[in-house]
Amino acid sequence: MHTYATVVLAAGKGTRMRSRLHKVLHRLAGSPLLDHVLKAVETIPSTSIFAPFHDTVSTHRPVVVLGHDAEEVEAAFGERCHYALQEEQLGTGHAVLAAKEAVDALSPLPDLVLVCYGDTPLVRAEVLAQIVTEHIIKQATITFLTARSKGPSDFGRIVRDISGRVQGIVEVKRATPEQLRIDEINSGVYCFERSWLWPTLEALPRNPGGEYYLTDLIEIASQQGREIATVQGTLDDTVGINNRVQLAQAEQLLRRRILERHMYAGVTILDPATTYIDDEVEIGPDTVLLPNTMLMGRTVIGADCTIGPGSTIEHSTVGERCIIRQSVLEEATLEAEVRVGPFSHCRPGAHLARGVYLGNYAEVKNSYLGPQTQMHHFSYMGDATIGSGTNIAAGSITSNFDGKEKHRTIIGEGAFIGCDTTLVAPVTIGNRAYTGAGAVVTRDVPDDTLVAGVPARFLRSLKQEEDVSAPAGEKQ
Ligand code: UD1
Ligand code: CA
Repeated sequence: MHTYATVVLAAGKGTRMRSRLHKVLHRLAGSPLLDHVLKAVETIPSTSIFAPFHDTVSTHRPVVVLGHDAEEVEAAFGERCHYALQEEQLGTGHAVLAAKEAVDALSPLPDLVLVCYGDTPLVRAEVLAQIVTEHIIKQATITFLTARSKGPSDFGRIVRDISGRVQGIVEVKRATPEQLRIDEINSGVYCFERSWLWPTLEALPRNPGGEYYLTDLIEIASQQGREIATVQGTLDDTVGINNRVQLAQAEQLLRRRILERHMYAGVTILDPATTYIDDEVEIGPDTVLLPNTMLMGRTVIGADCTIGPGSTIEHSTVGERCIIRQSVLEEATLEAEVRVGPFSHCRPGAHLARGVYLGNYAEVKNSYLGPQTQMHHFSYMGDATIGSGTNIAAGSITSNFDGKEKHRTIIGEGAFIGCDTTLVAPVTIGNRAYTGAGAVVTRDVPDDTLVAGVPARFLRSLKQEEDVSAPAGEKQ
């Protein structure tokens, strides 16, 4: 029975990013780089390739090696991983050694150590599983991931002898022009025998540049006549992010991967080139995404929706059969069969119940709109609770902020808020109540009542036409 620990290196200064933000906290398809690596590591055991080797399961959380700005990363990832500190950044070999204490404290003690770099976020769980599997089959001392890359690149080159046996990895800085022409490159994912790794790292000499290179272990193992296995991955798995040009390249690759995942799962994407979907987003089948649409953060879209063109949806939940045209949703909840737009905005806390229709140029914030409610052009509902089947006509707004505090507006069911009504909160409009066009409502309106004017006054009861008496306090 084998067990493995995973070590993720993220202590480098990331100088080439030219950023105040820690490199692994830069975002790719909406999530930090390190999150992508951790996700791949966490899903290794569930990949199908790994299935025949189910006795090789690690229950360990990964050990992340951090240097400067450790707090920033720890705050973002918390209990999800163990942390090891590499106080001085003396190279990737030195960084792995910094994880020794944390790895050796794991129980059961792992016999294998899988090492990934925090700046290589596109590596997939299947590929990691394949490396561990290959390592076990070959009974290797080291197994690592390579890829084929034509043309210049900053990856280490794999040097093999004429029989194809790996002799070492040569870094670009130290490579001869002839070695630079080698098209097999080091992806930066390795599986090591733990019992060989620690003593070899402890004895590793500094290279002429003053660093301890993890890659130098390959040459040492080769000279010792040990088994070195390789797994060849695609260049996509390998994309390393050292600068923002590479960040953008990785973004493009990952986005394509995400779009394809959704298309294979039954989502129609009219124009993949202008459709952006974050990694965490879920979309139901037969939903159609029209051009210039962005689905971001923790967004869930139901089946049979039409989104776009030109819609941006962030951290929101959208039910089945909704239509969202040229509109923006942020932290909003839409139940089934809601129509929004064109050109409307649902801000945080907007909850539109089943069948709501939000017309054009409408804004909803921190408000509940009951089933089948219609809210039309140029209207704003903030901090409001609105019953079912109510109609908010053009230009109506809640005046919810008095300069100091926000106040709530409550509108009953089947009410009719006439064009250009201003609802001065706190205020309650009863069930089936009407406001006349241009009303400024400063006092509560009972059920079945029509009010109008500035400020709005009682006009008549809508319950029985013959009842012309005003409610208490309204007679004048
Ligand atoms: C490294 C490899 C190279 C490979 C490439 C793949 C070495 C010497 N070179 O080069 O062969 O083709 O990755 O992407 O390993 N780190 C630490 N502590 C340190 C130094 C680095 O934790 O002291 C971390 C970094 O945060 C980073 C990772 O190790 O996540 C790789 O370091 P980086 O400097 O980016 O190496 P590359 O030049 O990309
Ligand atoms: Ca790198």
